[in-house]
Amino acid sequence: MTSPSNAHPSSHYAGAKNWLLGHRKRLAVLVSGRGSNLQALYQSASAHGFAIDWLIVSNQKESYGLAWALEHGLSTQLLNHRDFDSREAFDQALADQLKAFEPDLVVLAGFMRVLSPAFFARFQGLMINIHPSLLPSYPGLQTHRRALQDGVAFHGATVHSVTPELDHGPIVAQAVVGVHAEDDEYVLSARVLEMEHRLLPMATWALLRGDLQLQKGRWLLTRSQSNLPQELQFSQCLVHPLLNANPI
Ligand code: GAR
Repeated sequence: MTSPSNAHPSSHYAGAKNWLLGHRKRLAVLVSGRGSNLQALYQSASAHGFAIDWLIVSNQKESYGLAWALEHGLSTQLLNHRDFDSREAFDQALADQLKAFEPDLVVLAGFMRVLSPAFFARFQGLMINIHPSLLPSYPGLQTHRRALQDGVAFHGATVHSVTPELDHGPIVAQAVVGVHAEDDEYVLSARVLEMEHRLLPMATWALLRGDLQLQKGRWLLTRSQSNLPQELQFSQCLVHPLLNANPI
């Protein structure tokens, strides 16, 4: 038996293989397209041996993320919004699917569909979204193009709790990248995406561990993470290493 003095630091979180999350978790991930953030989440869970029951839902039959999830043996559900008579009917079906799964957390990872207030009422506090800008700047679409047009020096990505207001809600974590003189939309979006793939797993696991609490509308870290491996320690702000590559 290991004595407390020489125990592996992870024993602080007790449990066998999935000590970092406490016990098996149920994660619903909603995707519409490519699904690279879903893949980053899955790869991070696999790398750390997290025990997760996945449900991947897409509103797009052609979604590569959906195909990828199927290939990897994850539970998937296609709910094509075109098959429904109204936004409310689609939202109702989606909410019913998710409720039946009883997720610990719902992650919108490139889910390009506006959901109705009635939907949010059913998942209040249980749902996060990743958005490719430093919110509250650039909610909506074409965030990289708009950032370049405005000549901003910093851009990035945000993980936030989902509320009825589009791309608003308490910020869980942000990643900052520098905007360089020679950037075009493609280069800038690739730099932001690289950070999204680190930001989303970090924020998701911190929430699932219960290390964050919402206090007066702000997510605050309320538990020491000093015993976690460094790559899993939650940081409210990640900074891209190239931030200072081309100072003007
Ligand atoms: C990501 O950049 C994500 O931040 C963005 O869609 C992309 C999905 O990529 N989400 C939004 O714009 C939501 N407002 P992925 O399918 O490869 O993860």
